[in-house]
Amino acid sequence: MVDSHGRTIRDLRISITDRCNFRCVYCMEPDVRFAAHEALLTVDEIVRAAAIAESLGVRKVRLTGGEPTLHPHLSDIIAGLAVATKVEIALITNASLLSRESLRAWKDAGLARLTISIDSLRPDRFARMTRSSSSPAQVLKGVQLSLDEGLTPVKLNAVLIRGFNDDEAVALAVLARNFGVEMRFIEYMPLDSAHAWDSSKWVSAAETRAAIERVFPLIACGDDDPSSTARTFRFADLDGDSPARVGFIAPVSNPFCGACSRLRITADGKVRPCLFSTTEWDLRSPLRAGATDTELADFLIDATWTKQPGHGITSPDFVQPERPMSAIGG
Ligand code: 5AD
Ligand code: SF4
Repeated sequence: MVDSHGRTIRDLRISITDRCNFRCVYCMEPDVRFAAHEALLTVDEIVRAAAIAESLGVRKVRLTGGEPTLHPHLSDIIAGLAVATKVEIALITNASLLSRESLRAWKDAGLARLTISIDSLRPDRFARMTRSSSSPAQVLKGVQLSLDEGLTPVKLNAVLIRGFNDDEAVALAVLARNFGVEMRFIEYMPLDSAHAWDSSKWVSAAETRAAIERVFPLIACGDDDPSSTARTFRFADLDGDSPARVGFIAPVSNPFCGACSRLRITADGKVRPCLFSTTEWDLRSPLRAGATDTELADFLIDATWTKQPGHGITSPDFVQPERPMSAIGG
């Protein structure tokens, strides 16, 4: 699948539910309304869409939400994907609901790896940022369990927001060292349901990196996949083969749209060629109207062709998408 700007789609992100047990300040307002259950793609619809995408060149499927571990049939989705496709299956989670048993079941079903969000190590702040009753300790327990169960490489994501947690870059980077994982800092993007994003709350990747380097000098790994969103660094004081890494995802200060290989399907079955698309393609209707695989493949090809060249966050004409990350799927 190629778009009209010559980019090839290899990576499909499927939001399997828009529901979440958190209400992160950069994502969901406390009074967010969720889609009706019938509106969400079923397990079979998710698997079929992924299999068709694979036939068009997709090699990786990332299951997102909302919080995908809230889905009552997550194991069935993973198992369905593993039977119907050969794609790499990854999951992004807030890690508040992980248990050894569930991780093992997902791994046995075919899950390859996990990405875990952790925005603060201070319980009071964590509670304020996520507006949840979970805690940093709970999330870190989830990180350890994921490593123990071999869902590797485990990656950690944080969004720094000025005035909330922008003083925790170093403390979060220490997690990479302690767990031997990659800790990634994602620049805050205008995707929150409150539409409260403004540049004064935004912290650049350069600023975050400088804060970390004042304590831990970093060396660019230089082996980043060109379509990868992160620029990765290792710690100068650790062995070259240490798995501890820091990554910076800089959609605002250094857009990677030109090398984007991603396509998204929302929990209610809309294809979004871009995180920032303002138009969506309703895949659920043809899926439910008995479309053939060829018709659905043509549908995905047509939707992909319309992928916009970039998000234009810094342009004066930028329009924030109506739906937050939880509905779109990170
Ligand atoms: N800006 C940057 N990252 C965001 N995420 C959710 N909303 C935003 C936003 N407005 C991140 C979450 C999670 C991933 C799915 O997307 O922290 O790690
Ligand atoms: Fe839930 Fe993720 Fe949104 Fe936080 S960012 S409210 S964990 S969907």
